[in-house]
Amino acid sequence: MKIFSLIMLLYGANVYANVVDFEKLYQSWGADITKIDTQKAKIMWDQERIVDRSCAGCHTNNLTKYGTHTRTKKKIKPLSKRVNSKRLSSVKKINKWLKRNCKFTYKRECNAQEKMNFIEFIKQN
Ligand code: HEC
Repeated sequence: MKIFSLIMLLYGANVYANVVDFEKLYQSWGADITKIDTQKAKIMWDQERIVDRSCAGCHTNNLTKYGTHTRTKKKIKPLSKRVNSKRLSSVKKINKWLKRNCKFTYKRECNAQEKMNFIEFIKQN
């Protein structure tokens, strides 16, 4: 009986883990949620601060479309939740890829404000 309860508990926790509480996530980064600016994210999305490196470079500027990795040429599934419901459903995945992609694109990590703006921008598209 105890094992059954434990399994149910773990199952429940796992299902819950797939629902991202964005407000909590932004606060965990130390972002000010009253200052969301998706326009800034849109500008950054397309900008090449380093030659040939931008978010759009791999993800295109239509988030409902497949992207292509600029180096490996591998296809990247759309980032838009409208066509890819699996997107933005794991805090771990969001943190991992924001870190990697910002480092690739800007040679530095994005700050809390930038990350929040990006996620809100992706949510709108
Ligand atoms: C060099 C190519 C490349 C660039 C440039 C790039 N990305 Fe990505 N991005 C990827 C790949 C590869 C994945 C992970 C594969 C997948 O989930 O399809 C990914 C995944 C993500 C995810 C995870 C989404 C989720 O929840 O599943 C986010 C968010 C993201 N990228 C945002 C960005 C932002 C913001 C930028 C610009 C700062 C950016 N990416 C630039 C290749 C790139």
